[in-house]
Amino acid sequence: MVASLDGFIARTDGRVDWLETSDEFAGGDTMDAGFVEEFLKTIDCYVMGSRTYETALSFEAKGLGWSYGDKPTFVLTSRELPRKRDTVEFYSGDLAQFVNERLRPAFRSIWFVGGSVVSAECLRLGLADEIRYSILPIVIGDGIPFFTKLGRDIALHLADVKAYKSGMVELRYEMRGRPSEPSA
Ligand SMILES: NC(=O)c1ccc[n+]([C@@H]2O[C@H](COP(=O)([O-])OP(=O)(O)OC[C@H]3O[C@@H](n4cnc5c(N)ncnc54)[C@H](OP(=O)(O)O)[C@@H]3O)[C@@H](O)[C@H]2O)c1
Repeated sequence: MVASLDGFIARTDGRVDWLETSDEFAGGDTMDAGFVEEFLKTIDCYVMGSRTYETALSFEAKGLGWSYGDKPTFVLTSRELPRKRDTVEFYSGDLAQFVNERLRPAFRSIWFVGGSVVSAECLRLGLADEIRYSILPIVIGDGIPFFTKLGRDIALHLADVKAYKSGMVELRYEMRGRPSEPSA
């Protein structure tokens, strides 16, 4: 997810207007549209919490489009939510069972979109292989944290860092002890 420097992914009321901020960092890379497009092709399915889904629906209603293309998108919810497209499927229950028994056999690259509740659930259950954490050059003072109520420490391996001309810094961490970690 993308966070403010003080670690929030949305304001307390869920607004993400501050994502529009931009700066100029002369030494940074340019976010190449072709590269982003190629990268998105590597994602096989998306998983998101209901509140993130509701934000995505409100973006779409404002004419900002649907960010997840025609990829299968699994929405975690115990509620009855509008289903606006065939690629969306709802799930309620044990997330570890869902990911390990339903998603892993069918999809290679599973992208957890967020939000905070779901990313913490995912980490707590040991389901993540890596974390993509991007920081924007803004402090918003209060909001929804990147991980809600994680409840324990999780040591990470910093695998990659990129800084962009827009002032965004992208961090990629791997979970320690996972096969993808280079041996010490
Ligand atoms: N900055 C970014 O990059 C970024 C990225 C993603 C999201 N966001 C923002 O983050 C905010 C939402 O985050 P959030 O932490 O409040 O909510 P969230 O993680 O999107 O959704 C949490 C909700 O998902 C449902 N849920 C989670 N696990 C479940 C399970 N195992 N079974 C059934 N339902 C489950 C529950 O709602 P029910 O009541 O429906 O059951 C839960 O309250 C939004 O403002 C969004 O725009 C920002």
